[in-house]
This record gives sequence, structure tokens and C-alpha cells, in this order.
Amino acid sequence: MHSGVEMGIIFRQLNPHACRTYLVGTEGANEVVIIDPLLEHVGEYLDLLDRERLRLTYAIDTHTHADHISGAAALKDQTGCEYVMHATAPPRCVTYRVLDGFIYHLGAIPLEVMHTPGHTKDSISLVFPDRILTGDTLFLDDGGAGRDDLSGGNPKEHWESLQQILKLPDHLIVYPAHEYHDRQPSSLGEQKIRNPILKLRTEEDYIKHLEGLKFGPADWMKEILKVNYVCARDPKSAWVPVDTPACEVQNTQAYGINDQRVVRISVAELRRRLNLANNLLLLDVREPDELEGELGHLAGIKHIPVGSLSGRLPELEGHRDKHIVAICHTGGRAHTAAQILMQAGFGHVYVLSGGMSAWRKAESF
Ligand SMILES: [Fe+2]
Repeated sequence: MHSGVEMGIIFRQLNPHACRTYLVGTEGANEVVIIDPLLEHVGEYLDLLDRERLRLTYAIDTHTHADHISGAAALKDQTGCEYVMHATAPPRCVTYRVLDGFIYHLGAIPLEVMHTPGHTKDSISLVFPDRILTGDTLFLDDGGAGRDDLSGGNPKEHWESLQQILKLPDHLIVYPAHEYHDRQPSSLGEQKIRNPILKLRTEEDYIKHLEGLKFGPADWMKEILKVNYVCARDPKSAWVPVDTPACEVQNTQAYGINDQRVVRISVAELRRRLNLANNLLLLDVREPDELEGELGHLAGIKHIPVGSLSGRLPELEGHRDKHIVAICHTGGRAHTAAQILMQAGFGHVYVLSGGMSAWRKAESF
């Protein structure tokens, strides 16, 4: 998580996982904007605004999201803020539609909207004097850029948008809408060196690069788009897998969520193995507070939340010959964790089917 007060900017990343939501304001003023809010976290955002006596003026989506349900409509309901998107954005309940070049003053700090279509038609980047929020138009380092194969995606437009971003000053720090591997924000100048997408020289090279990539299944993403078009207020309106690197081209192929290679084992089978074997590692990938919650946790677990697993793989190096059983609440995050482990070459990886929920249920019989 990144936060800080620099140049009079209040800047915070609000989510504990790969989808990034930013709160931006000016020191001393009580007005803030929130960018790319998630519906499932709206309660927490409202608590924060209340606690710190901040007034939300804009809830901005950098584009119509396909990997999570936007919280902007709910924030508009609860606070009376404007729901801001690009003029071409499909969601019905947007209250303020902006064009390229629109400038909003957050106290003394200007926020300029740059239309950067490609990942979607309605993609915008938000340019501040010292940083740029790139949405899914540009990710960090080898994360490359957002995929262009979903509704409204257009590789040619994406290429042109990237060229526009490249004309901006090198000192701007890049903050994308997703970061799946805990890469740290760095300057546009750094990204010119580290991000393979920015090193491609021609539009043809870019298109060729995209053709060489296979995208993960997108059916569930189409469902989320539909839900965002009608501004759903119920977080259960669509199924959202947790922390699947869905929007990132580079890794979508490896982590395709319908990958059938992940082996699930039942509670009974895990019990049997626990009695038999000593070469088992139980890897609980839930958030810290869940371990202390109602379902508790199993004895002897190794705990690494799924959102930080990629960055903490070295901790598992000594367990390569063990049989690793990934465990979460019901099995979704453990599935993602298993795929990350398999991608990193771990040979014996399993998912506890039904997670801790199934384990506790089995105990009650
Ligand atoms: Fe996206």
C-alpha cells in the first residue's frame, strides 16, 4: 500500500489486493476524489471519509471495469458526489461525463483528464503535476499493459494512447489500476526502461506482440461488464474471482482461471493425508483477520495471503519437495494460489475443496 503527503497532495491506495483504488486530495482542504472504487469496499471508504471528515466530490472510474464491480454508483448514492467517467462510458448512472483535456482543481492541485482508449473505448488516465494514474492503459514493469480483447478494446488505439503517455514528463510516477505482483510504482522514465510495451518501436510491433499472447477465459468478465453497465449496487450481482490477474496480458495466459490442472482434494482426503504423511505443507492464503475469525485456522499452517504470494515465493523454496495444500475460505483464492505455485514450478500442489468452510462443516457431522 502506498500513501504519503508530497507537494501538498494527500494520496492513498485503499485496497489490500491487486485492484487499486486511490484517494486523492489536497493537504488542508477537506475535499477528496476516489478513483476506481470497488463495490465490496464501499463501506470501508465511507467509514474513512467519515472518520477523517473528508468530503467526496468525485468518484471516478478510469474505464468500465470487467474484473470487479464498480463502487462509484453506491458512493454517489451515499455521499451525493458526482460519478465521473469519459463521455463515451456506457454505465447509465454516470452523472458527469468528461472529455480529453478536462481539468479539475483539487484545491491548488490540477487533475487533468487524458483520453487514453485502447484497453476500452472509455479509458482515461489522470495526470497530476507529479504522477499519472494510468488505469489499465499502462501497468508497471513486466506487467505491460491491460488486455485489448474485451468489449471496446482496440490495439491500434491503445498503441496511440501509449505514445501520448510517452510524451509526458519522465518524472511522473505511474500508478496503475492493477498490480498483481506488488511491483512498486516508479517514474515514467523508469517505465520506459522496464516496461516491454514501452520499448516497442512501431504499431506493427505492438500488434504482433499482442498476437503472440493468449488471453485467459473472459466469460465471467463479460458478466461483470453487464453489471457495471447497469450500475449494480449488490456486490453479489456477479461472480468476481479474487486476485486473478485478469486484466494483465502478460500473465493471463499462465493463470487462466479455468485451468483444469489444479487438483482439488476433499476434507476427508486431507484428513487421511494429515494422519499419514509428514511431507505436507498447509498453505493458508486468506487475509490475517480471517485466520482469527469464526472459521479459525488449522494447526501448523504457513500463512501467506494470496495477494502477496507471488512476491513471497522465496519463503516456500525450502518446501519444493513437499505436497502443498492451498486453503482459503471456500476454495477460490486457493485455486489462484495453486496456479501461482504451479507457474513457479512447484510440482505437488493441491486445493482444499470447499476450504475452511467445508472443513468446519465436516467437523459438525
Ligand atoms: Fe480493466
